[in-house]
Amino acid sequence: MNTIEAIYARKSMRAFVPEKTVDEAVLRELVEIAGRAPSWSSSQPWEVYVVTGKKLAALKSLWRKEMAAGMPANFNRSDIPGPGYDDWKETPKCVQNMVRWKENRVEVTGLSNDEHGQLIGQGIANFFDAPACVYLCLHKSLSYYSYYDLGAFGQTFMLAATEKGLHTLPAYGPALFADIAHKEIGIPADLSIVLGIYIGRADLDHIMNKPNAEHMTPDQYLTIVS
Ligand SMILES: Cc1cc2nc3c(=O)[nH]c(=O)nc-3n(C[C@H](O)[C@H](O)[C@H](O)COP(=O)(O)O)c2cc1C
Repeated sequence: MNTIEAIYARKSMRAFVPEKTVDEAVLRELVEIAGRAPSWSSSQPWEVYVVTGKKLAALKSLWRKEMAAGMPANFNRSDIPGPGYDDWKETPKCVQNMVRWKENRVEVTGLSNDEHGQLIGQGIANFFDAPACVYLCLHKSLSYYSYYDLGAFGQTFMLAATEKGLHTLPAYGPALFADIAHKEIGIPADLSIVLGIYIGRADLDHIMNKPNAEHMTPDQYLTIVS
């Protein structure tokens, strides 16, 4: 698989096979590969915590308990607040893409909006049954550019995983209850938990893995000036 093949093969998976674990050595190698990502002045701001085995099982059970009480209002338990609807009001294109994303998932799965939402909620509560989760963190003092760098790290990690036949889902879900994650994983208070990447082998027959997100074509966002 070359890089371009990996880019097109990667897709967010929302149901993993829990028994299909990923060796720690492989996780370590993927993190090392991801560390080749570019960063501002080679600052390499990322801090990474891989959670697996018994620790992940403990985290899942705490997540289940929290999710049973419902999604936190305004996502206010995460280190980085999730965007509210108002944050998209000047970017109708993004709103349209998000609406279309949901429509497509409902169309392809045949689920109702509510049923789909319930499965997503269950997925978050159970870490989508992934056997490992990679927490991407940054020091709280850092600038927007470090967030850019962390995104490059995450995508490099996911492409390398794809090349190895593994599947991923980058998600806010693992960051939702930051207070618990800091305590359980031992992530210091001066780091922000930005995102989690679930990793493992997807259950390819699962209904939640059937839809493919529609990606825009360059005529919708590209301007070439010459
Ligand atoms: C910052 C970020 C946060 C995300 N959070 C979630 C999430 O909480 N739950 C989820 O199901 N997918 C989440 N995703 C996955 C996106 O929904 C997915 O990348 C998008 O729909 C495009 O699909 P693709 O990854 O299959 O190309 C997130 C992706 C990013 C980059």
